[in-house]
Amino acid sequence: MSSQGSSKRYNVAVVGATGNVGREILNILEERNFPVNEIFLLASSRSAGTTMNFAGRELVVRDLAEFDFSGVQIGLFSPGAKVSSQYAPKAAAAGCVVVDNTSFFRMDPEVPLVVPEVNPQAIAQYTNKGIIANPNCSTIQMVVALKPLHDAATIRRVVVSTYQAVSGAGKEAMDELFEQTRAVYATTLRVPPKKFPKEIAFNLIPQIDVFLENGYTKEEMKMVNETKKILDPAIRLTATTVRVPVFNGHSE
Ligand SMILES: NC(=O)c1ccc[n+]([C@@H]2O[C@H](COP(=O)([O-])OP(=O)(O)OC[C@H]3O[C@@H](n4cnc5c(N)ncnc54)[C@H](OP(=O)(O)O)[C@@H]3O)[C@@H](O)[C@H]2O)c1
Repeated sequence: MSSQGSSKRYNVAVVGATGNVGREILNILEERNFPVNEIFLLASSRSAGTTMNFAGRELVVRDLAEFDFSGVQIGLFSPGAKVSSQYAPKAAAAGCVVVDNTSFFRMDPEVPLVVPEVNPQAIAQYTNKGIIANPNCSTIQMVVALKPLHDAATIRRVVVSTYQAVSGAGKEAMDELFEQTRAVYATTLRVPPKKFPKEIAFNLIPQIDVFLENGYTKEEMKMVNETKKILDPAIRLTATTVRVPVFNGHSE
């Protein structure tokens, strides 16, 4: 995207607008007064027709499956990896630059995986496929801390444990923590786990995503592989990722 002066405004599509990530993207666009010309809120047919507020305006959510991306310059995607795998290339083919928050394109060698504070230069490769990938949330906050240490002293090995909030598993996961917690306090009933492998209320679950053949979970291997791609392939890293019963805020 070439800058055409400070008055340039962009047509922006937020894909997965009704989700945790999408709602936060809308908050940040509004808070930063991002130069939006038109904004399109997209989700599945389940939410199409509902309304959301953006910058004091009420906007109707549209169905991604029926949306035409030509005329949209920036697509901010968080509809889940499977949906992004299908629609991000379609949007890019229509000339929209996609910033994808899901895991699907992160390890694609042709797609830049960017944390602005760490490897902003990589963004230039967006022209390969019209897609820029955003790392896993635990990787992002870790590499921001590691970058100045790596510059100063060359990190050889990282041992990291994470304590990840339920927000990272989506809006339904937040509802699950709420319902289970309320049930423990206010009823004799229990709410069975759906989004997590065990009850999350008053519990810690040392498993995020599925286990792989090497004994690590997929979430743990994301931290390994993404850190190598963003910061330095020579860094050796081992991660233990744990889901904790708080709504927001990952620590590690
Ligand atoms: N990079 C990061 O830092 C980061 C952090 C957290 C999450 N993520 C990733 O971002 C994605 C979304 O996470 P989330 O927490 O926002 O999940 P979420 O709260 O469950 O929201 C999912 C969103 O995707 C939409 N969606 C689902 N299926 C769709 C379809 N077939 N077509 C169009 N839209 C569809 C949902 O719309 P409906 O309302 O219609 O269901 C909703 O807007 C996940 O892939 C997650 O791994 C990335």
